[in-house]
Amino acid sequence: MSRLSSAEQVADASRRVERVYGVLAKVYDDFFDWALGPGRRYAVSRLPLGDGDSVLEVGVGTGLSLPLYPSNCRVTGIDISEAMMERARARVERLGRTNLELRRMDARNLHFADESFDHVLAPYVISVVPEPGRVMSEIRRVCRIAGTVVVVNHFGSRNPILGWMEGLLSPATQWLGFRMDVPLEAVVDTPGLEVVKIERVNLLGMWRVVVMRRVD
Ligand SMILES: C[S@@+](CC[C@H](N)C(=O)[O-])C[C@H]1O[C@@H](n2cnc3c(N)ncnc32)[C@H](O)[C@@H]1O
Repeated sequence: MSRLSSAEQVADASRRVERVYGVLAKVYDDFFDWALGPGRRYAVSRLPLGDGDSVLEVGVGTGLSLPLYPSNCRVTGIDISEAMMERARARVERLGRTNLELRRMDARNLHFADESFDHVLAPYVISVVPEPGRVMSEIRRVCRIAGTVVVVNHFGSRNPILGWMEGLLSPATQWLGFRMDVPLEAVVDTPGLEVVKIERVNLLGMWRVVVMRRVD
């Protein structure tokens, strides 16, 4: 059993995320674009983007999804890792797009007013953050009423054997900066968000795209 208090465990997990992504940033696109690309592209396509709409992307990483947005919407990407953000900034510069803004920020404490965005996308970040429930509640807060929230993530399996194996692997994968056993409920049970659709994506359908609408 851990001797750290829960606040210390969260601080420890946050430091680990920054450390891990400080290293992963260098190779992230080579390893994760092909594996996670289909789900990322599908998730962006589920956003009902209208002319002039605003989008918040939580955990934007190296900005792999940024070229997927049309230029008639305003996109703000946030991430906690400076190393990942540096790559995202370089990508924005290469793209030469003025509708993309990047800010370093902790998803557990978003520095935006309530209902600041028409849509929020969270690609592959919920299993990385130490407090998924707190992040989901922040996502709900900054999305406008009737706005869309799309999450793409791997969730813990409901199959008892697979779930048991994921539970066993999770302490190890935590050292790599993600958990395998985050339950789907951590997302779909967020108060104020109503599930519209859940679809399986990527290799063997092991990841899911969850489309939600803010109802209050
Ligand atoms: C698996 S990567 C996904 C990156 C990107 N969304 C993609 O589709 O490739 C997870 C990202 O979440 C970021 N992250 C982890 N914890 C965070 C937090 N508390 N606040 C903001 N970003 C966080 C990491 O720095 C990393 O860039």
